[in-house]
Amino acid sequence: MKQVAVLAGDGIGPEVMAEAIKVLAAAQRRFGFTLHFEYADVGGVAIDRHGEALPAATLQLCEQSDAILFGSVGGPKWEGLSPERQPERASLLPLRKHFDLFCNLRPARVFPPLAAACPLRPDIVGDGFDVLVVRELTSDIYFGTPKGREGSGPEERGFDTMSYTRREIERISRMAFDAARLRRKRVTSVDKANVLTTMVLWREVVSEVARDYPDVELRHIYVDNATMQLVRDPHQFDVMLCGNMFGDIISDEAAMLTGSMGMLASASLNSDKFGLYEPAGGSAPDIAGQGIANPIAEILSAAMMLRYSFGLEEAAAAIDQAVEKTLENGIRTGDIAAGGRQPVGTAAMGDAIVGELTAGS
Ligand code: NAD
Ligand code: IPM
Ligand code: MN
Repeated sequence: MKQVAVLAGDGIGPEVMAEAIKVLAAAQRRFGFTLHFEYADVGGVAIDRHGEALPAATLQLCEQSDAILFGSVGGPKWEGLSPERQPERASLLPLRKHFDLFCNLRPARVFPPLAAACPLRPDIVGDGFDVLVVRELTSDIYFGTPKGREGSGPEERGFDTMSYTRREIERISRMAFDAARLRRKRVTSVDKANVLTTMVLWREVVSEVARDYPDVELRHIYVDNATMQLVRDPHQFDVMLCGNMFGDIISDEAAMLTGSMGMLASASLNSDKFGLYEPAGGSAPDIAGQGIANPIAEILSAAMMLRYSFGLEEAAAAIDQAVEKTLENGIRTGDIAAGGRQPVGTAAMGDAIVGELTAGS
């Protein structure tokens, strides 16, 4: 039996996680597989209860599990702590590094019934678009050293180091090209090679890897142009290959193009296909505790877990379809309720998706 470490975290994390667990339970009933869920504290809630954002027991549970289902961490309550103790820096980033989860897949697809929630003009959206952001997740300016502060007064300095090794660029590039082969066979590599030396190496290595994939078209684009092109004409993109920081930024933009931050799922994988699955968005303090958050990103992340960690493609696809069907039926949380629709809450959205998943059996 496969074990899942469930780390709901802070803010809307526990609210959307409850719906993902409901959907996974329905998928188990329909498809006859069994998952064992073990819950642990992470992030701000773990600081409050155990004094640290990633307690040893939580890390140990993750090590003993076959996958991690993650909610979100952070929020105003912990922003006054020293940076190295804050939930994001002291739990999520160490988890990514510890398990070498270098490959972050963030699929931004406009579900046709949600076209009206996309902030772009209808003639740009067309019949929807489908972009996969492949973001490197364990290096770049996030993890490069030295990193710190020194001096005082007006000359006090803060610094981070952007750095990539050839090996790091090569392995994330291969993931992007492999993914493109299963899609529309186009990789756009996002960099800033006109300014940053790290990105000159990035462009060089991506081009070298591309030689092993003659069937995949490679295009290089500067990150500033990429953010503009994504709103001008998202159809031009298939796979967007990004470093850690540019991928962070591009994926929020891509999420909003699909209608809401609450729609974007993600998988963070290592080379053994061990994975952490989480929404690309955060703990949404502005709406936490109200029961109105959109659980779809968490539910689709759970589907990605079934697909990538457990090889349960049929169940994963059924969850994707149940989400689409629910949206077709006009069920909307507030963030995607364009056109004057009456929004439902988090639990009602989860129930509707469970209903579709069960009805499909
Ligand atoms: P955020 O993604 O939490 O929120 C941005 C906006 O998107 C807000 O208006 C929010 O209400 C909305 N939103 C996000 N998810 C939603 C959902 N499921 N349904 C409806 N609306 C949703 O980003 P932020 O406000 O910059 O960050 C808040 C906190 O979350 C910070 O502490 C940040 O560091 C943390 N964060 C954590 C993660 C993570 O755990 N993976 C990711 C991003 C941000
Ligand atoms: C994300 C988040 C994280 C990141 C933060 C919370 C550390 O924004 O997963 O996109 O920057 O990677
Ligand atoms: Mn982000």
